[in-house]
Amino acid sequence: MDKIRIRGGRTLRGEVMIHGAKNAALPLMAASLLTDETLTLGNLPHLADITTLVHLLGQHGVIISMDGGAPNGGHDGRVLGLRAERITRTIAPYEIVRKMRASVLVLGPLLAREGTATVSLPGGCAIGTRPIDLHLAALEQMGARIELKGGYVHALAPTGGLRGAEIRFPTVSVGATENILMAATLAKGTTVLHNAAREPEVTDLAHCLVAMGAAIEGIGTDCLTIEGRDRLHAADYTVLPDRIEAGTYAFAAAITGGEIEVVGGRVDHLDAAIGALQAAGVSVTPSARGLKVKGQGRLKAVDITTQPFPGFPTDLQAQFMALMTLADGASMITETIFENRFMHVPELARMGADITVRGNTALVHGVPALRGAPVMATDLRASVSMVLAALAAEGETIVNRVYHLDRGYERIEERLRACGADIERLPE
Ligand code: UD1
Repeated sequence: MDKIRIRGGRTLRGEVMIHGAKNAALPLMAASLLTDETLTLGNLPHLADITTLVHLLGQHGVIISMDGGAPNGGHDGRVLGLRAERITRTIAPYEIVRKMRASVLVLGPLLAREGTATVSLPGGCAIGTRPIDLHLAALEQMGARIELKGGYVHALAPTGGLRGAEIRFPTVSVGATENILMAATLAKGTTVLHNAAREPEVTDLAHCLVAMGAAIEGIGTDCLTIEGRDRLHAADYTVLPDRIEAGTYAFAAAITGGEIEVVGGRVDHLDAAIGALQAAGVSVTPSARGLKVKGQGRLKAVDITTQPFPGFPTDLQAQFMALMTLADGASMITETIFENRFMHVPELARMGADITVRGNTALVHGVPALRGAPVMATDLRASVSMVLAALAAEGETIVNRVYHLDRGYERIEERLRACGADIERLPE
């Protein structure tokens, strides 16, 4: 397995172009199952998770063309054409779902279009148990019969197809909102989703579904009303820029006291993270192409609590903690979304960080310096938090198990190197 070697202490300067958002691209690709016509998606990132979903959709019968099968109408990044003219298989097998939880997003579309779906349960993952009970309860409210057997969800729509329903999610779930939103576009009648997730990726999916002929009201709010349609049609859609990637590079500027223009970064998607950076003494200003981020002096300690959008994103919590390990003072970092999302703590401690965890809160006492060390991570955002810490640490850090990074950050070492980082990939 590849490793990444970082020699810390360089001040980063330059610009980083943000790619399409992985967490928007995945549901958008699953939405291709809702129509027999071609969905063309532009600005897709080159990431392992995208490839995993290409494999899954391929075995459902989706024909995937690299150029979108259509003229590249001003798209940046990779363009894919996804055509589910005929769904040949409604089973999502364990071998693929276990690699990536987001595979479960095929459940709603398959059930809505084919009336049946058999999807492997994703199981636990490094950041918690992450059940899919909210997805299943909502589908049952739409008339589906759900059975759990042999590690699989067997779902069957009633005769005549899924029915619209009034659904109130007990907690905010991005995946459940996306799955049910997709299913509702082809259901009979009206579906209302209360306490829906408002993440920009959910909004992006809703806009794409509208482009495919769906009728959705309340986009961008926590109440979505969907009028079911008999069929959806072809569309051409561009994936929004990745706010988590943008936030991560903004943090890279902050932790090294450097200056980076995050091209494609959007203030309206990063309000909470920008607020935290500014409170830490970092200058963040909108530019014509995105955001300019400039570290100035030692960071100040800031408390954060992760929340559903528009709150501070859980997917930036580990990275922010890396910053706070070097801040002047103590900061309290509270994780409210996932129960086991502090795996980066012992690894940051190996680099000299002073962190105490009690329940879902980490108390971080800033230290004057971190020291490089061999580290290893068990999830994507934890890995990148170690990269950030290493950029600012004295000496050399080796980040092991780089495949986690490759799931969410495209060519991260090349892009950091272009800003002056001393970083290289060591192939196995
Ligand atoms: C998505 C993102 C992930 C991000 C998370 C929260 C994708 C592919 N992944 O994950 O990067 O960290 O949103 O912003 O978009 N829950 C249940 N039952 C359910 C569903 C969720 O209890 O049926 C719980 C989860 O365990 C978690 C919380 O709800 O504690 C939020 O999870 P959810 O928003 O569903 O996260 P994902 O969609 O899996």
